[in-house]
Parts: sequence; C-alpha cells; structure tokens
Amino acid sequence: MDTQILMQTSRAMVAHGKGLLAADESAGTCKKRFDSVKVECTEENRRVYREMLFTTPGLADYVSGVILFDETLRQSTKDGVNMGKYLEKIGILPGIKVDAGAQDMAMHPGEKVTEGLDKLAGRMQEYFKLGARFAKWRAVITIGEGIPTRACIEANAHALARYSAICQEASIVPIVEPEVLLDGTHSAERSEAVHEETLETLFHEMQQQGVSLEHVILKASMAVSGKDNPKQASVKEVAERTVRVLKRTVPAALPGVVFLSGGQTDENATAHLDAMNRMGGVPWPLTFSYSRALQAVALNTWRGSAGNVAAAQKAFLHRAHMNGLAAKGQWTPEVEKKAA
Ligand code: 13P
Repeated sequence: MDTQILMQTSRAMVAHGKGLLAADESAGTCKKRFDSVKVECTEENRRVYREMLFTTPGLADYVSGVILFDETLRQSTKDGVNMGKYLEKIGILPGIKVDAGAQDMAMHPGEKVTEGLDKLAGRMQEYFKLGARFAKWRAVITIGEGIPTRACIEANAHALARYSAICQEASIVPIVEPEVLLDGTHSAERSEAVHEETLETLFHEMQQQGVSLEHVILKASMAVSGKDNPKQASVKEVAERTVRVLKRTVPAALPGVVFLSGGQTDENATAHLDAMNRMGGVPWPLTFSYSRALQAVALNTWRGSAGNVAAAQKAFLHRAHMNGLAAKGQWTPEVEKKAA
C-alpha cells in the first residue's frame, strides 16, 4: 500500500471543475444501449465507440478519470495504443470496474447483493500493472414494500468494505457505490431515509474493517422521488435532501463525493449537481461520475456511423462541459442553451 499514490490519485479524481466518465458498462448493458440505436454490440464496435469518447478533443478539461470495463483496459486505439495508456497520456486517470455484478439475494425477494470478492486481491495487482489507479464496486439497494431489509444493506456494506481494503492494499483508490435505485413510487423523503441508513451502515463497516477513509471516494445516488411517483421533488428539494443526508453520514475525511445519474434526464443530473454545489457548506468536493447523463447524447448522435463521430464528440464534450460547470456551481439553463 503506497499512501502517496493513493493520495495523489484521490485528489486528482476530484480536481476542481472535473469529474469522472463512467464507461464501464458490461457487455450486457452495452448491448441494451447499442440496441437502442441499432448498433450491433460486437467487441470491435464497443472499442470504436469508446475510442470515440476518449479521443474527444478537450475532454481532459472536464474529465479527470474514466471507469473502464475489463475488456476496454485490454483494448487499444486504432493506432495501437493501449486504452489505459492513451488516457494516462492525455492526463486522464484510468479506473476499472471490478465487481461481478448484482445478483439476486438468496431468501430476499426483490433484493440484490453484489458478487466478485473471490480472488480479487490477485486481480487487483494485475489491474495496477495495467495502469488502473482507481476501481469501482456497485451495490444496488431497491426501495419497495418492506425493502430494503437490514440483511441486504449489511451484506452489501460488508462487501463494499472488504473490496475497499483489497483495493487500498494494491494502491488503488476504491470508489464505493451503494446505489439507491430511483425505480418505484416512493417519495424523495423515503429515498432520503434509505440513503441515511445505507450510508450510515456502509461507513460503520468501513471503519470496522480498517479502510483508510482518506483514500476512498463515495459514488452516491441522489435523494430523488421514485420515477413512478407522479409528484416529483424539485431540484432544490433533491439538492437539500441529498446534502443533508451526506452531512449526516459521510466522514469529513473522505477526499470527495461523486454522483451517478441513475436514469435522471441529462439536464436534471446537471441541475441537481449544480444546486448542491451552490449550497456549499460540505467538507468534500461534489462532482459527477455519470454514464448515461454523459453518454446518451453522444450515443444517439453517433449511431454507429463514422460520419457522425465529430458531431457526437461535440455533443459529448458539451455535456462534460456543463457538468464541469455544475461541479463548480456555475451552471445555468442559459449557459446550457448558449453553449449548445
Ligand atoms: P449512470 O450515471 O448511468 O447511473 O451510471 C453510473 C454508474 O457507473 C453506475 O454504476
């Protein structure tokens, strides 16, 4: 464990006005996204698409790191440069998703537990050699009738803490992502309460297992209304609930908090982040680690055609720029329109 490397990496990940691009969709998730634009989900198409994203001119102005899927970290650009090395060269940190996905939790209908701890320490050493400087593990918490249960929250928190310790031993900064899903009809108030219990349990486990809190990044969801609730909380309410729950539960020692977009619209994801940064008063930088809210417009513009690459990169950079502004509390709907 090299604390110097861990410190440098974690600070760089949350550098002022920058955030992370999550491009770590598994082949299955990637297929769903590609199907929506009628692109065949082959290994080569995934490589071409991701190369398009990573070679967007100016990306490093707003993106500090990219979360990769194992396959991508082993692929190369069309010029034969390893993807991780390419990112490093342009000043973007390569990261790696290491969990093996959320599986149905035995005896707990409707709930998931994330797998992937077996032999993780060995894999982590290889990832470090391949250039990965941070990692991601995503747990899924579902809100419904009688769920989440304590068993689900505790099992996921335990795995996140074990994964974090393994990362840090390999000098890789862990991103812990306990995603509270927005699926359902629940209120923002209920979401806030579930976030509170989840995060409180997570950091208790992290302390128990000796994880160095100075070298962990939290990837949080926001306390939004369930997507099928006809009464949607305002941007202001979501920002206030999310900041309040973070203040209650997340140790000030953490170097930063990043957010997932979770199915929010592109503009809502940006507006929520901006509103939280305008509120201020928190001990951590708050920034983005979006997949859909950064990539949707790029994918829809690209549609698998080389002729659309420049336009797709422009649209993608615009979203990265808007979220970079939101990370500083400087985004406005007017800037959004003017810069488009
Ligand atoms: P979304 O921003 O699309 O939620 O993805 C972020 C992520 O990395 C989920 O694990």
